[in-house]
Amino acid sequence: MTFQAPYKVLCVCLGNICRSPTAEVVLQHACQQRGLNVWVDSAGTSNYHPNKAPDIRSQQHAKQRGYDISSLRARQIQLADFANFDLILAMDLDNLKDLQKLQQQAQQQYAHHLKADVALMSAHDPAYCGQAVPDPYYGAAQDFERVLDQCESSSAAWAAVLAQDLQSNAVK
Ligand code: 4NP
Repeated sequence: MTFQAPYKVLCVCLGNICRSPTAEVVLQHACQQRGLNVWVDSAGTSNYHPNKAPDIRSQQHAKQRGYDISSLRARQIQLADFANFDLILAMDLDNLKDLQKLQQQAQQQYAHHLKADVALMSAHDPAYCGQAVPDPYYGAAQDFERVLDQCESSSAAWAAVLAQDLQSNAVK
């Protein structure tokens, strides 16, 4: 039996306490449902909340849909993540811009070992295609529900894309 390393995805927002921890658990669940060998993590572009648990509102809204995000802890993205992860998903366009700048820096540092593609969380989502996952931090309950709606919809779309990609790579 050969060990197949998992395909690694990093979900990224600003603080890593609202959107990206939610995306991490929802995308992991969507991949597990399809039986994919995918491992998901999350990080923030900022270092505003190092080692903090997800925002209590995110925890509560996620729990109402059956997702437990309580054990996650925030961290800032590092250049090494561009060498370790296959795919890095930005929650909004500011995150995407910041990630593209970091990707250029990582290119200089890691050159041939750089592997991460950078994309929007909503890239393949038929319902929210190309849209940001709006930051709920200064918002209300409906904003946290919107994060979950988009994470579920976008994760289902990514899981379908990854199922195809991983299958065709396995055949090669
Ligand atoms: P997130 O939300 O990027 O979805 O984790 C935020 C969390 C904290 C802050 C901003 C956005 N903040 O300014 O502290």
